Amino acid sequence: MDLSDLEQLIKGRRSIRRWQAKEVSEDLLLKAIELATWAPNGGNRQNWHFYVILNRETIGRIADAVQTSADLMASWPEAVEMGDTLRRWQATSSFFRAAPAAIAVAAAQYQSLADQILIRREAVDPRAAQMRQWRQTANSRIQSVAAAISYLLLVLHQMGLGAVWMTGPMQAKGEIEKILNVPPGMDLIAFIPVGYPDEEIRPANRRPVTEVGTLIM
Ligand SMILES: Cc1cc2nc3c(=O)[nH]c(=O)nc-3n(C[C@H](O)[C@H](O)[C@H](O)COP(=O)(O)O)c2cc1C
Repeated sequence: MDLSDLEQLIKGRRSIRRWQAKEVSEDLLLKAIELATWAPNGGNRQNWHFYVILNRETIGRIADAVQTSADLMASWPEAVEMGDTLRRWQATSSFFRAAPAAIAVAAAQYQSLADQILIRREAVDPRAAQMRQWRQTANSRIQSVAAAISYLLLVLHQMGLGAVWMTGPMQAKGEIEKILNVPPGMDLIAFIPVGYPDEEIRPANRRPVTEVGTLIM
């Protein structure tokens, strides 16, 4: 593969939110997850877990939980003020109900050596408290799993599958974790509906590199 092939793969991927009814094979999804686990990750802890959901009824139960939480939020006076934007958001919160498959991604909780030291010291030393806050801002636990999700989306795209990385459903994190039997010590951080795309790949744009990059010489 030369750079232009890789560029085509990267630029050809779009978030897909409509899928054909066609089933997705378990083997394809497991292969995509296997490749995703080659992502760089903090301390090579590989602190991820992937729940492969091929049962439409389970996807439906998750969609119900997400829709219920969206409806609840929409009923709050703080939300009512948002008008049409809120109604659109509410109406599309559980669009993934139609997906033939989904991958829910969880991150294991862990404390690095540095975290353990800082947690013990932060109460008595403001410098330690600041260091801990900086480390939390650059949360390596979530960054590691996010790296794997990026790989996962590219592999799924290469397989001809369409997916969308979703954090929206996390408003029903507790309910989804119960449905999937996520054990204590793990947190669901993303939900990725997958299937064969049933939408045109629309052109996309990104801010130019001169705007998003700064050369430090
Ligand atoms: C962390 C993260 C959370 C996202 N959450 C949602 C979501 O809840 N619902 C959704 O429809 N898309 C979600 N997306 C998809 C983005 O909207 C999408 O990646 C972005 O608009 C760029 O479009 P593209 O993926 O087609 O290039 C999320 C993406 C990321 C990386």
